[in-house]
Amino acid sequence: MKIRRCAILFVEPREEVSFDLDGLLTGGDGLRRRQRWLALAPHLGHEVEVDDAERELLGALSPSLWVAATAQAEAIDTIECLIGKGLVISDRARDHEARERDEQLRSTYWHPLGAAFNAFTRWSGIDAVQSMKENGIETAVSMREVLGAPPGEALRHPQAGDRVALPRVAPTDFDDLLARRATCRNFDATRPLPQALFAQLMQRVFAAQAEVRVTDDTVFLKKNVPSGGGLHPMECYLIVQHVEGIAPGLYHYQAREHALDPLPGPGRPLRGFVQEMVAQQHWFADAHVVVVLSPRFDRTFWKYRSHAKGYRVVALEAGHLSQTLYLAATDAGLGAFITGAINEVELEQAFGLDPIRQGAMAICGFGWRGAVMEMTELDPAGRVWDRDRD
Ligand SMILES: Cc1cc2nc3c(=O)[nH]c(=O)nc-3n(C[C@H](O)[C@H](O)[C@H](O)COP(=O)(O)O)c2cc1C
Repeated sequence: MKIRRCAILFVEPREEVSFDLDGLLTGGDGLRRRQRWLALAPHLGHEVEVDDAERELLGALSPSLWVAATAQAEAIDTIECLIGKGLVISDRARDHEARERDEQLRSTYWHPLGAAFNAFTRWSGIDAVQSMKENGIETAVSMREVLGAPPGEALRHPQAGDRVALPRVAPTDFDDLLARRATCRNFDATRPLPQALFAQLMQRVFAAQAEVRVTDDTVFLKKNVPSGGGLHPMECYLIVQHVEGIAPGLYHYQAREHALDPLPGPGRPLRGFVQEMVAQQHWFADAHVVVVLSPRFDRTFWKYRSHAKGYRVVALEAGHLSQTLYLAATDAGLGAFITGAINEVELEQAFGLDPIRQGAMAICGFGWRGAVMEMTELDPAGRVWDRDRD
């Protein structure tokens, strides 16, 4: 049997703190502390505890050179444990699963830190609303009480010289559009979205507008948003809830053809599915259209191989698409939102994504705003909501 270490691995010394009544009664601080070594190997997608002997062996093994396991005969038990945990890769037939995941990771050209960050910041089953309640940070006022004051809202650089005032320019229609943009947290599920409006937004924000064909297998799309390397890695999966003429369900948007490919449904009511995907933020659950921004890491990393900026470039794309969606929606008289609080693992399962090659970065959505503001929106200048209405 030949072995080598998995391609990417970080080992974290983690302290776990729990309440200890006995410790408190015997004069201690009431906290029990436990130190553990955790292996963070992105090809596995979950943390694995290792002991001192396993950690030392992992540090000694090459991730590139295959060696005979017999060369480490005295450590064969430790090697078997590490193979079982998927951290040491073997050429044995029965260990194929970890080997294939490791190969997948190698061939996607992740930067090690980007791979670990992406793999170990994914959520599953998180209820962000409940956790805000438990931490007492549901409102701006309670946040101030619990967290203290934030760093100031504006910064003056300590080395700044005499200030240069800039002229205020008379607003145009574009300024008016910008001023009417506000994150929508109140959707009117009873008012269907006309198909033409839905199609217009998809065309403006997500569609390919032109293409550059270098060779038949190397094509760059032109879209209305910038993209690192012009590669446009962001796929767009839709959960359509209330659009005229389009059956509610899951879809994959084809940017070049400006068309929808229907996908298998989640096997339960869409509203609850959406709410779970946005970590129980019920204020987004009635959005007429929900957009999962799903980057194909392998496309961007084809150019930015093991590149320190690769992951940032992909993450930035979500912001460009989101702002363009907000403005297109505002222009159409609709509301839009983005959230980073998403349960990636459930999204991967629902849309059949392999997180090494393709993930879920954020969720956006759009639709008709409701008549009543039940959930707070940030509109201090009253550009969206009539402040005198109630
Ligand atoms: C990356 C990103 C993530 C966000 N995540 C959430 C979220 O999880 N829940 C939410 O209600 N709003 C979310 N928002 C919206 C912000 O709360 C909102 O932009 C901010 O309060 C300013 O309000 P405005 O967009 O109306 O100007 C997010 C915005 C951005 C850019």
